[in-house]
Amino acid sequence: MKKIIVAIDGFSSCGKSTIAKALARETGYIYVDTGAMYRAISLFCVQNGLMTDQEIKLEELEKEIKSISIEFRANAAGESETYLNNINVEKEIRSLEVASGASKISTLGFVRRELVRQQQLMGEKKGVVMDGRDIGTVVFPNAELKLFLTASAEIRAQRRMDEMLAKGEKVDFETVLANVIERDERDVNRTESPLRKAVDAIEIDNSNINKEKQSEMIRTLFAKKTF
Ligand code: DC
Repeated sequence: MKKIIVAIDGFSSCGKSTIAKALARETGYIYVDTGAMYRAISLFCVQNGLMTDQEIKLEELEKEIKSISIEFRANAAGESETYLNNINVEKEIRSLEVASGASKISTLGFVRRELVRQQQLMGEKKGVVMDGRDIGTVVFPNAELKLFLTASAEIRAQRRMDEMLAKGEKVDFETVLANVIERDERDVNRTESPLRKAVDAIEIDNSNINKEKQSEMIRTLFAKKTF
């Protein structure tokens, strides 16, 4: 069977990572969560005093960027977890604060160039499912299968809130919705690699389709590309 690259792009909280992980598990492909890489840089900035609400210390971050190590390692259950400079940060990078920082960090050209370089290396041998915002447009413009996921902001905020409540975090709907909308605007309007559907990407609006139906659609698309 032919090995391919699967690029999954779309808005935040569209279920990209759930779909990407499931497809990687079923196919034996490597899953790469590129959002986690931007989040890890955001956490690095918070931990090292390089980012406040008002500013990012650009010169200092640019000096550090190549020496920051971001890796994915499988845990005992076989799930990929994010390591920042050899420390497991999978939980810390999922906070709203780190997410907002990641959204700002991801507008910086020098950060994007370094992370895109690392992502391209990860996909060099194909057999990769990668999710993000620019995978089908910038990281792998020649990916064999490109998906673009969308859903309404309200549905995405509700899904994100349910996830956070399930983890015991206290959040209210309005805060989560505002965070989703703020990140959408930044993703779409930034000058560096804004979120766009690649012309050859297949768009799936999953506002009203369940996970099983969506998985089935994606499995069929994958099978067509690999046989
Ligand atoms: O998918 P996520 O919410 O974990 O992504 C975190 C932030 O990083 C989000 O604001 C969008 C940004 N991002 C990006 O600009 N490019 C990517 N390939 C992945 C994420």
